[in-house]
Amino acid sequence: MIICRTINDLKQQLRELRKEGKSVGFVPTMGYLHEGHASLMREAKANNDIAVLSIFVNPMQFGPTEDLDRYPRDEERDTALAEQCGIDIVFLPTVQEMYPHKPLTSVMVSSITTRLCGASRPGHFDGVGLVVSKLFHLVQPDRAYFGMKDAQQVAVIEQLVQDLNFDLEIVPCPTVREPDGLALSSRNVYLSAEQRAQAVVLSQSLTLAEEWIREPGMTARRLLDRVKDHIKGAKDAVIDYVELLKFPSLEEIAATERTDQLNGSVILAMAVKFGTTRLIDNSLYQPT
Ligand code: PAJ
Repeated sequence: MIICRTINDLKQQLRELRKEGKSVGFVPTMGYLHEGHASLMREAKANNDIAVLSIFVNPMQFGPTEDLDRYPRDEERDTALAEQCGIDIVFLPTVQEMYPHKPLTSVMVSSITTRLCGASRPGHFDGVGLVVSKLFHLVQPDRAYFGMKDAQQVAVIEQLVQDLNFDLEIVPCPTVREPDGLALSSRNVYLSAEQRAQAVVLSQSLTLAEEWIREPGMTARRLLDRVKDHIKGAKDAVIDYVELLKFPSLEEIAATERTDQLNGSVILAMAVKFGTTRLIDNSLYQPT
């Protein structure tokens, strides 16, 4: 496995491989890798000749009061896991390498970013759009792998790829969970034992909603109220948002709309805080 810390080194390594006609699968991450990331890495390696991983905690996608400084990092463990998953090249740039000057260009996907995390984390998706565009230009992958744990991110990146004619395929991958249902996240390490035990309400409510959404006469508002009530059963849970939207357009569904009569894919997405730790989860449903 080759570790590249500079853009020049990365480009040179990829140039050689591309000359040999090798296909490239790419997994962008912010590190502190877990089984969720590992599933993307294995998928990238299984379906491409070369698998490239990037590890970069991108300051542009963190708000001023967010957890950039305390975001967990462990380069040694990350590179060991990457190697186990068959990664060929790890790109590990510094902030200076990625942003030698303050960028004056913004990559802003509208509409899809107005709700959910786009609403509660202003500027977040502009930062994601910028760094992912830069990484796509540098790696020029044939396929790029993203987790549905961040479903809005998948919708935003798919739009970006379409709008800017990036010549690659986005491959969405299922959310990997702990045995009790909690979605794996680098941020789970922030949780105290008690918060960790309570955090299971997110995935529990998504599973319960699978039945509730099909109940005859169920409306969007009643469904969301039930989900919120279930989450509030955890004493430290503070709801940031719980929303039911069309997917992938992320268009609104009226509160009075009957969920047992919805057609097409819908997403139930939530962000819940336990102390200072904000967790997200979601599930897609096809009610009819
Ligand atoms: P990060 O949070 O490190 O996640 C990297 C990738 O792993 C994302 O595509 C994310 O959806 C996926 N992932 C995280 N947890 C997962 C889980 N439990 N199951 C499956 N996939 C999971 O997302 C980012 O980094 C950044 O925004 C990035 C795209 C790298 C841009 O900076």
